[in-house]
Amino acid sequence: MASQRTFIAIKPDGVQRGLVGEILMRFERKGFRLVGLKQITPDRALAEAHYGVHRERPFFAALVDFICSGPVVAMVWEGHGVIAAARMLIGATKPLEAEPGTIRGDLAVDIGRNVVHGSDAEETAAFEIGLWFKDDELNDWTPADQSWRVEA
Ligand code: RTP
Ligand code: MG
Repeated sequence: MASQRTFIAIKPDGVQRGLVGEILMRFERKGFRLVGLKQITPDRALAEAHYGVHRERPFFAALVDFICSGPVVAMVWEGHGVIAAARMLIGATKPLEAEPGTIRGDLAVDIGRNVVHGSDAEETAAFEIGLWFKDDELNDWTPADQSWRVEA
């Protein structure tokens, strides 16, 4: 399986509720590699570009307002199959339908306050990483214990 990168964001509700460490830990503990991390309060242009696919949906304006309402913790995680695996760690969009053990299943109750975003495909991951990060904000590195995580 190929190594991939995905864009993960802790939304303003996750930051306001003091869940940054809890959420970040789940990706780190799983064994994925953090290659980009910053806190940013998105402007409308960034939020509208990020959620552009939902532009025609009735919840779009409220979603953009919410994403711009405070700091977001933006991250890029790397690893084999990380895009789909991160979505599994995050859980279903509606937190009440998300499996216990997932981030949304454990930490959220409302679709409009579902604490975390994860890219849903290779193309969206590449687009979102480029939207939120400059190339020189991403780090190529190999954990010292990599051979204990992934068989060569
Ligand atoms: P995300 O993009 O944030 O990772 O969430 P997702 O893939 O699980 O869900 P998506 O369909 O992409 O929806 C993006 C975000 O829009 C909000 N939403 N509200 N009120 C509604 O019916 C509704 N539907 C979606 C959610 O915050 C969702 O995460
Ligand atoms: Mg989505």
